[in-house]
Amino acid sequence: MVTAGFSTLLFTVRERIAFVTLNRPEKLNAINALCKEELTRVLAAIRSDPQVDAVIVTGAGEKAFAAGTDIAELSGLTPASGKEFSLKGQTVFDLIQHLGKPVIAAVNGYALGGGCELAIACHLRLASENASFGQPEVKLGIIPGYGGTQRLPRLIGAARASEMILTGRSIDAREALSIGLVNAVVPLPRLLPDAEALARSILSNGQVAVRMALKAVNISMEIPLSEGLKVEASMFGECCATSDFGEGVKAFLEKRKPGFTGR
Ligand code: COA
Repeated sequence: MVTAGFSTLLFTVRERIAFVTLNRPEKLNAINALCKEELTRVLAAIRSDPQVDAVIVTGAGEKAFAAGTDIAELSGLTPASGKEFSLKGQTVFDLIQHLGKPVIAAVNGYALGGGCELAIACHLRLASENASFGQPEVKLGIIPGYGGTQRLPRLIGAARASEMILTGRSIDAREALSIGLVNAVVPLPRLLPDAEALARSILSNGQVAVRMALKAVNISMEIPLSEGLKVEASMFGECCATSDFGEGVKAFLEKRKPGFTGR
């Protein structure tokens, strides 16, 4: 199924996976205001669609995932409109983190500024060998405004995040892998097939458990360990009420594949 109606995005759903492609290759998929609006719409559609259980986000072309926020839209920002601009981007990327369905970034080239922030708002990241990551905002006299100063230190530690954010230096896919910024690096032609295989391996599991696990991991980034452990125990208990739990354990004991129903 292909859903039309977007001018900065391509959106397709295939067997429970939504593919969202930033589609401004002539501008290296730079994220403009319309793109943020369309991302908001597509994410709302994905969230409420019971036929979709996972998402893959990528960029059109072979050069860029997204080379940042659209720099042309930065000029003239004032303290007030700048804050608004930042909050808008943060809201869109928060929707990804809290979508309740796993979102995989298939990073196919430059992931700079807002592009890097988009990738790190996703739950998992696969990168092609030509991918690069950076937060070059200080070179423009600003700081990352779509979550980069908050998510990057949580993901790769304050020292490495500070180095990237303070110097604006980009790192290649291999370095990104070595510091845990991406889950795997693959040749470009393998990127989408491998991202899909990763999504399908998640889809083969109990979906209530997958959603609970996503939620628990999100919570771990926001609250103290002692509180997080309590949340984990409650969610563990909730999983025990599902028929997927009964089926998963029974299938293991009967040495067969589970037939999960997502309930
Ligand atoms: N915003 C708006 N337009 C952008 C853009 C961005 N973030 N990144 C690239 N583009 C546009 C270029 O202006 C150019 O458009 P044009 O052909 O109409 O002039 C087109 O995309 C191709 O980019 P170009 O710079 O010619 O490609 P390149 O291969 O020489 O360089 C980059 C690639 C990524 C190194 C370079 O485009 C760049 O530094 N982009 C900005 C990165 C950045 O600072 N992002 C953070 C923004 S807060």
